[in-house]
Amino acid sequence: MKQGFMLVFDGSNGAGKTTVIKGVEKYLTLKGFDVLLTREPGGTPIGEKIREVILDPSTPEMCYMTELMLFGAGRAQHVQEKIIPALAQGKIVISDRFDAATFSFQHFARGIDLETIIKINDLALAGFTPDMNIILDLDPNEGLKRVISRGEGLDRLEDEKSDFLVKARNGYLKQAEQSPEKFEIIDAAQSKEAVLSDVINIIDSLLES
Ligand code: TMP
Repeated sequence: MKQGFMLVFDGSNGAGKTTVIKGVEKYLTLKGFDVLLTREPGGTPIGEKIREVILDPSTPEMCYMTELMLFGAGRAQHVQEKIIPALAQGKIVISDRFDAATFSFQHFARGIDLETIIKINDLALAGFTPDMNIILDLDPNEGLKRVISRGEGLDRLEDEKSDFLVKARNGYLKQAEQSPEKFEIIDAAQSKEAVLSDVINIIDSLLES
């Protein structure tokens, strides 16, 4: 793996991204890489304020276009303030969600047309693109059960009808089908150990490439 590399972990809500990301950080740090963890929505002070607005369950009236543009605004700041400078310093950037989530949630689940999604994403990314998306794939109903069993309240998007999360999940699978060179799908219904081991195998092959 060249220095200055960006990995994204994404997928169904409750699929265990946080645990896997911590395991990967430990693995890469032990190998001597300088790793930067970040997330979307969020990742910068401005992005974290935008995150609060986007996920607030007390404002279900948010229009789809407002939501899309807020994700885009946070991403523009994230790329310019944090990601590009970290990659320039040779870091491995690991983001908990990124642009693939906008295609899954705002296009495949919300139904905003693809052209508009591409326009907003292109404005936010300004030519940047992550190197690999690792999708932790899980039945959304199982994912929501896990979120609830952790005692966490549901955010504004998790509070949608279960059909919404099914469409978002299928959105990731479709993106992976269309761009296999940019996506790896992991079965997140396995044990945490098996999921991490699958992910480390992928990372090992990236390290060798
Ligand atoms: P998180 O709970 O994994 O931090 O993600 C927050 C929620 O935001 C999750 O339901 C997915 C959603 N999301 C989008 O709808 N579009 C996006 O572009 C991103 C990054 C996240």
